[in-house]
Amino acid sequence: MNEEQKQKYYEKYQQAKQKGTKFFPDVIYKDTLMMLAIFVALVMLATFVGVANEPKADPSDSAYIPRPEWYFLFLFEMLKYFPGRLEWIGTFVIPSLAVAALFLLPFIDRNPYRHFSKRRFALSFMSLIVIGMVALTLMAVASTPPQEETATLAATLPEQILAGQDLYSIHCVECHGADGEGGEIKGVEGLEGYILKPINTQDEMYTRTDETFFEIISFGQPNLGMPPFGKAYGGELGVSDIEAIVTFMRYTWDDRAEIPEEVTRASAIPALGPDEVPSYEVHIAPIVKRYCLSCHRPGKKNNNYLMRDYQEIMESGDHAPNVIAGDLNNNLYRMINREEIEAGGPMPPTRALPPEIIDLFRRWIEGGAPNTAAEAAAASPPGAPAVPTLPAPGGVITSTITVSPTLPITGTATTP
Ligand code: HEC
Ligand code: HEC
Repeated sequence: MNEEQKQKYYEKYQQAKQKGTKFFPDVIYKDTLMMLAIFVALVMLATFVGVANEPKADPSDSAYIPRPEWYFLFLFEMLKYFPGRLEWIGTFVIPSLAVAALFLLPFIDRNPYRHFSKRRFALSFMSLIVIGMVALTLMAVASTPPQEETATLAATLPEQILAGQDLYSIHCVECHGADGEGGEIKGVEGLEGYILKPINTQDEMYTRTDETFFEIISFGQPNLGMPPFGKAYGGELGVSDIEAIVTFMRYTWDDRAEIPEEVTRASAIPALGPDEVPSYEVHIAPIVKRYCLSCHRPGKKNNNYLMRDYQEIMESGDHAPNVIAGDLNNNLYRMINREEIEAGGPMPPTRALPPEIIDLFRRWIEGGAPNTAAEAAAASPPGAPAVPTLPAPGGVITSTITVSPTLPITGTATTP
């Protein structure tokens, strides 16, 4: 850059400085550009990143704690200091005064300097408001109780199907059977001897939409004997829970829907070598969950025999012990073999278990009814092969027995 250019540039600069920038159009133009950039960034974020979902809104869920978005929390906190009829002071008067004061600030503080050390008044005032907002926000965050997790938040389809399967096992099996096969109800108070039509047929699946299933489960069929399950009608299931059950039913029983492979894999019972002893943890728990738990949990007719965990299975019941390690002459084994004994009738009452499952119970009891996989391995003869995950043995029990360790037996269901 030579002298002449420099001179020219300097003059231009001086001129510009004297003229100053105009609010319109100069500043407005810059602001508009900036706003556009931020807007585009927001659209990009919304499109490609998104916001994590909370559970579906459930108007009947009284445990949900409603809170405004974080940037309104300070206003929300302010409300707490002006309860009841004074509310309008906290929500309207004070915020309006603060905004009005900010508007008036340039007129009150007419000082021409721009350096911050010379703008004490304006800066202190602004800082006061910012500090107030931050402090109120922090106080609101600190005093918000943690949101109680009330619903299954299954993200993917396989997760949802598996969660629905668990919920179905707990809430529906006692009447509709493990496969929705229906039949004569036995062992359920008030419905003894009632003949239920199957709900797993193509007829049922083709004539009922998901919405219809949702309504039937929420509201029940009280005049026919099915209780309501939706929280809105006094039941214990939230919206996402019922949706999971409907998804499970659709994917398991409707021949138009194909069950994802992950579900089949997660549902298969790990195969056993010929001499291996099954364990409660890996083999028995998922079977119990699917075929027995719906009746053998608190609040149901079951001779006080609860089957929620290993200890209950071994020790509870009016005719306890119902399982005797190493002895097949025990109540449970006799009852699943359809014997009528002092403790009661055949179990499950309506339909015999598939022979593979009865056999699994036999090997488990003969092997000393071990709890964990490690105990079962210790009870197995040395050299027995490690347990490979194969599709369930024999076609009958495939596809719908969960052994996924990520889904606890009680799941999110509110077993009392
Ligand atoms: C206490 C017994 C009981 C329980 C538990 C129960 N149901 Fe029912 N359910 C019934 C009865 C009784 C009917 C009436 C239909 C009939 O008579 O065949 C019925 C009907 C239905 C129907 C409608 C059949 C139709 O198309 O008319 C569906 C679907 C259904 N139940 C699903 C479920 C699901 C899913 C669950 C678990 C969340 C469940 N039920 C729990 C007893 C029960
Ligand atoms: C439809 C409900 C229902 C289902 C499903 C069910 N049970 Fe039962 N169970 C009962 C009832 C009711 C009794 C009480 C005796 C009777 O009425 O026969 C009982 C009693 C028992 C008893 C005797 C308990 C005692 O101490 O007196 C055993 C053992 C038992 N069940 C095992 C099982 C097993 C194992 C399964 C799963 C494979 C199962 N039950 C599934 C309803 C059920």
